[in-house]
Amino acid sequence: MNILGINAVYHDPAAALLADGKLVVAVEEERFNRTKHGKLPDVDNPHQFPERAIQFCLAHAGLKAGDIDHVAYSFDPALRRKRFKPDWWPNPMSEEVFLLRLAQVPGTADRILGRKLGQRFHFVQHHLAHAASAYFPSPFDRAAVLTIDGIGETAGSTLAKANGTRIQTVETFEFPHSLGFAWESICGYLGFSPYDASKLMGLAAYGNPKAFRRQFGEMIRTGDDDYSVDPEAIGFLSAKTNRVETLLGPPRYEGMELEQRHADIAAALQEFTNAAVLALVRRLKRKAPVNQLCFAGGVALNCVTNELIQKSGEFSEVFIPYCPHDAGTAIGAAYVVHGAKSKTPPERGNYTPYLGPSFRRREILDAVKLAGFRPKISKNPARDAAKMIADGKIVAWFQGRMEFGPRALGNRSLLADPRRPEMRNILNQKVKHREDFRPFAPSVLAEHADEWFEIGAHSPSHEFMLFACAAKADQRDRIPAVLHHDGTGRLQLVRRESNRRYHELISAFHDLTGVPLVINTSFNDSEPIVCTPSDAIVTFRKSGIDALFMDDVYLTAEK
Ligand SMILES: [Fe+2]
Repeated sequence: MNILGINAVYHDPAAALLADGKLVVAVEEERFNRTKHGKLPDVDNPHQFPERAIQFCLAHAGLKAGDIDHVAYSFDPALRRKRFKPDWWPNPMSEEVFLLRLAQVPGTADRILGRKLGQRFHFVQHHLAHAASAYFPSPFDRAAVLTIDGIGETAGSTLAKANGTRIQTVETFEFPHSLGFAWESICGYLGFSPYDASKLMGLAAYGNPKAFRRQFGEMIRTGDDDYSVDPEAIGFLSAKTNRVETLLGPPRYEGMELEQRHADIAAALQEFTNAAVLALVRRLKRKAPVNQLCFAGGVALNCVTNELIQKSGEFSEVFIPYCPHDAGTAIGAAYVVHGAKSKTPPERGNYTPYLGPSFRRREILDAVKLAGFRPKISKNPARDAAKMIADGKIVAWFQGRMEFGPRALGNRSLLADPRRPEMRNILNQKVKHREDFRPFAPSVLAEHADEWFEIGAHSPSHEFMLFACAAKADQRDRIPAVLHHDGTGRLQLVRRESNRRYHELISAFHDLTGVPLVINTSFNDSEPIVCTPSDAIVTFRKSGIDALFMDDVYLTAEK
């Protein structure tokens, strides 16, 4: 049974294919259309499918459109209609447009697959799809499941429990109680785009939450096991009045200097988010008293909060997938439909993020020659790349299948030396063209990680850069380029079984330097992560990258 999962409702459109319960391919549309997050979250476009991602999934699996048995779409218009309150949006027409476009969704699926799907097309609840994207790849047979994002159909947070192949919603916190929207709102107030939550997280480490504790107490109220969001205090579009500026002062516009006040606001937002999420974790533990927690939704990309969940000990095991954001619902929706339509259970515990396109040597060489470069061949790419990194070079490392999700995890990565404090500025200014307050993350050999960081029990999710772990006090001075202002690193544990060639590279760097980790940042420059060899060469050519390795083929800046 072949099930095509699709996310297209808001942003991060993506496609995934489940063949007989096994996830064989998944990819985000942004990697093909080269637009960050694929498309804008517009009420007028939920019927615009990730067509190139879908075509790639079919081609990769060697399937024709007629081989798809079911299509799963990660949003349920009926639930939206049932629970939506007419005064939520300032313009009531926008909801009508949204519902009309959603009504076109099954027809879009029919057109793309070239036949009438009828009962083979399925709308799946958005938070259920998030929950499934975390639970099925987890190593657990049962778990409590927490989903927190901007909004699903109408819920901002959902508490659920999972047992075997069944996931059951326990409780929802409906709009306006949305932590995701709170972050979007403060992003806008501070002059960033709604997608810039990671910038606020970086900035928060430089701030003191105390300065804005009273104001945020009015915006996000937290109890021991619940939270609420005041839409007027936080300035949601739905609010009749907007008190953000009354509470926080004049906004910052893009391009204006960042002041200490802005960092303090980010720190307060982080503090109140931590409190709200931990309250939900405690509530969920009461309602689903098991030891395993799965967590998804865009808010699960907050590494600081995740670390606190882990440390709280409410659940002894925590799993967060490599794709807690909306793209991951393409995978989750497919798992949900498999559970409903197949007599056999889907695979469990497959958490590899390497699910996208890969390229043959011939294709790599053709792209290199087309770009006018003379390819060099390395007999030992891992050792040669490690040597360059140890010599202070920035190395682009492109190999195998592209990662699904927002993090580059060693297959489309830029690598550099964590021992050199100047590396942060060099990477920011020569390659990434981004703000200097944002940290870089380390990829660490799993077998040595505990010597360098306070990690606690290792989780598969430590392989996805989802936890901000404190560096050991006696090691901090040795790896200044990968530690944030607060002494933490958003680390990726690298196991040989998960990514052999990347493990070889870091091992070679360890042999050369005595340090079992490298800086790993995504291979891009203000654009989606590179996908093809041509994308890689373009980014290599226009930035200050010193060498580009694509399997055993490599290029250096000298040509
Ligand atoms: Fe979502």
